[in-house]
Formats: sequence, C-alpha cells, structure tokens
Amino acid sequence: MSVERLRVDLAGRAYDIVVGAGVLARAGEEIAALKRRRVFIVSDDHVARRHLATLTSSLDRAGVTHEAAILPPGEASKSFGVLEQLTGQMLDANVERGDLVVALGGGVIGDLAGFAAGIVKRGLDYIQMPTTLLAQVDSSVGGKTAIDVPQGKNLIGLFHQPCLVLADTAVLDTLPAREMKAGFAEVLKYGLIGDKAFAEWVAGNAPAILTTSGPERTKAILTSCRMKARVVEADEREAGQRALLNLGHTFAHAIEACAGYSGKVLHGEAVAAGCCLAFDLSARLGLCAGEDAARVRQWFAAAGLATSLKDLPELGTTEDDFVELMRQDKKAQGGKLVLILARGIGQAFVARDVDEGAIRSLLHDALAPSGDTHKRS
Ligand code: NAD
Ligand code: GLY
Repeated sequence: MSVERLRVDLAGRAYDIVVGAGVLARAGEEIAALKRRRVFIVSDDHVARRHLATLTSSLDRAGVTHEAAILPPGEASKSFGVLEQLTGQMLDANVERGDLVVALGGGVIGDLAGFAAGIVKRGLDYIQMPTTLLAQVDSSVGGKTAIDVPQGKNLIGLFHQPCLVLADTAVLDTLPAREMKAGFAEVLKYGLIGDKAFAEWVAGNAPAILTTSGPERTKAILTSCRMKARVVEADEREAGQRALLNLGHTFAHAIEACAGYSGKVLHGEAVAAGCCLAFDLSARLGLCAGEDAARVRQWFAAAGLATSLKDLPELGTTEDDFVELMRQDKKAQGGKLVLILARGIGQAFVARDVDEGAIRSLLHDALAPSGDTHKRS
C-alpha cells in the first residue's frame, strides 16, 4: 500500500494529511498514536452504509471505543436544526475534551462535524476522513467549518483546524460519477489559480482522474492538498492570498442559493460554472485573453460539467437578485464585491475594484434566454 504524508505546518496546530488506498482501515492505529481512546464519529447514511464498518473494525482492533451519529446526506444537513440535533447527541454521549470527533464523509459532514467539534464544550479536537474527491482535495484541509442559513452559504461557522486528515483514495470507488465530476472542478481550480502546467495536466488526464483509482487520481489529490496546505500555512484566516482559493465561488455560492441548496446543483458544479464566469469577466475586462477563457470552458465541458448558467437547471433568478446574493460573500468589503479574477490560466488575483456594471452585464448575458443574443455594453 502506497501512502503519502503531507504536513500542514501551522504553529501550535500543525497536522498531517495522509493520502493513500486503505488508509481508513488503519485509522485505529493513527488514532491510538495520537493517544486517544474514544471517538465520536459523524457520518451520513450513504457513507456509513459503505464505509463505517471498515472504520469501526479498525478502531476495535486498536482498542479505541466509539459512538456514531449518522445524519441524512446532502447540503440540507448543514443547518441549525441538524447542528442542534448533532450537538445534542454528542452531549448525550458525554463526549469529553480528551475525546476526538471523526468526520467520515464528504464536505457536508466535514463542515458540520468540524463546526460541532469547535463549539461543543468550547472546542474538541477532530479528524477529517474525507470520502468525496471534493473533500479530499479541498474541504478537509484548512479548518473552515460552517453551516448554511437563509441569508447564504457557510455564513455561520468557525476556523477550526483538524488534528489529522485521513484521505483513503479507495473509498472514492463507491462515489457516484456526478460527485466525482463535481470534485474534479475543485482540482482543476487549483491549476487555474496558480499552476498552468498542473491545469493542463489535469485537463489532459480528466478521464483517468474521473474513472480509475490509479496514479493520476492520487497525483491529482496530492498536488491539490500540497497547494492548499501551502496557502493555508501562509494565510490561515484568509487575510490575503487564501481568498484565491475562492476562484469562482462568489458566483457559485449565489448559484447554490438560487438552487435552494437542494442537490439540483452540486457545489462543485456551481464552482465549475463560477470559474467560467470569472474567466469570462476577466476576458471582458481585458485582463486575460479570450482564448484562455475559452480553454477553461472547454476543459470543464470535456469533464461533463456545465460551463454557463444556461446549462444549469433553471435558476429562476434575475441579475439584480443574483448580485444581491453575491453581496453576501464573506470577501465583500463595505458592500462592494471582491472577486477572484485572472490575468491568465494560473494567474488568479484578488480584484477589489471590479466595476459592478461589468458584473451586471456579464450576468445579463449569462441569464438571458437562449436565442436572446442582445449583448449589453
Ligand atoms: P457531500 O458531502 O454532500 O457528498 C456528496 C454525496 O456523496 C452525498 O450524498 C454523500 O452521502 C455521498 N458520498 C460521500 N462519500 C461517498 C462515497 N465514498 N461513496 C458513496 N457516496 C458518498 O458533498 P461534497 O461535494 O463532498 O461537499 C460539498 C460541501 O463542501 C459543500 O457544503 C461546500 O460548501 C463544502 N466545502 C467546504 C470547503 C471548506 O473549505 N470547508 C471547501 C469546499 C467545499
Ligand atoms: N475552500 C476554500 C478555502 O478553504 O479557503
């Protein structure tokens, strides 16, 4: 079994990311090595049915006792209602400060369990065991935890770093193809932000990354985690360059809000369309070549992802409502939108002075019914 260990080097809160096939079956040893003897597992129905037994057998072998809360799958679980239920279950189980919370699942479980761990008894340590591609390359690393509220996505939460990330690449074999594609969007995003060669490699190896648990998929995960770890080390609380990881996300969060966090549009699907909008806007503003924006669109499309708002299920929104949703973005300053734009593939930057007229014009065209080719200047 080939396993790689990366380090997220944060003073006082450093932790390892362990990536490889079969890592879940060794979780008990890893936890025992952290000198913990009791864990509270949080998972969802889909994941628990397929992978919980591997984890609990490993814990049993290592003499680590465990309890579990199994929640409904889907974004709707990132809510105050489910948080209240989960924290209640943790308290009923008498979790103690020396216990570990384990988030076994995708980004939904990771964000929710990480938040619960951060607030129960003023803070418990937790481990991320990501089971989706998206969670393995992004959400399990960096300590962002949150739930959604009617005002917007991820608006209530904490920075709370995990003390270990165990990413078992073999568990992705049970992930539905649509979820793999959504995770692929976040992998390509890293290249678009800061590494053109990686973007080209990811685009060229999309079929292997999406369909086989071979070396290409492992390389994609490791490279993404390495990039994320370096960004988080430099800017843990997003005072500066960590915002780059949000390429496409201001658009994406508005798309998800329009879709009612319903599963109609997955987070990674919204990110793919959002990245295309960010590159389109960059090209319209003369910041990057139109041909770069076209390449980005073609790469996402080749992976089977929607590249424009019109390709997504009907969002039922207007450009005004969409801009208001974008304004809920955590990067906004003084009511003004802050976007991640690009000077080319691999050259993203934080843009604080984007003309709102240009954004509205982009959205007007993006939301216009097909056939209405009248472009606003
Ligand atoms: P998810 O957690 O909803 O998982 C997707 C679906 O796949 C669910 O139905 C789940 O039950 C199922 N599933 C998970 N693993 C499986 C497996 N191995 N086999 C079969 N089914 C499996 O979605 P996601 O895409 O992983 O995460 C999206 C969430 O992550 C969003 O809420 C987003 O805001 C958040 N996110 C957070 C960060 C961060 O830094 N904290 C970064 C990116 C995204
Ligand atoms: N997913 C963006 C971040 O962690 O900052």
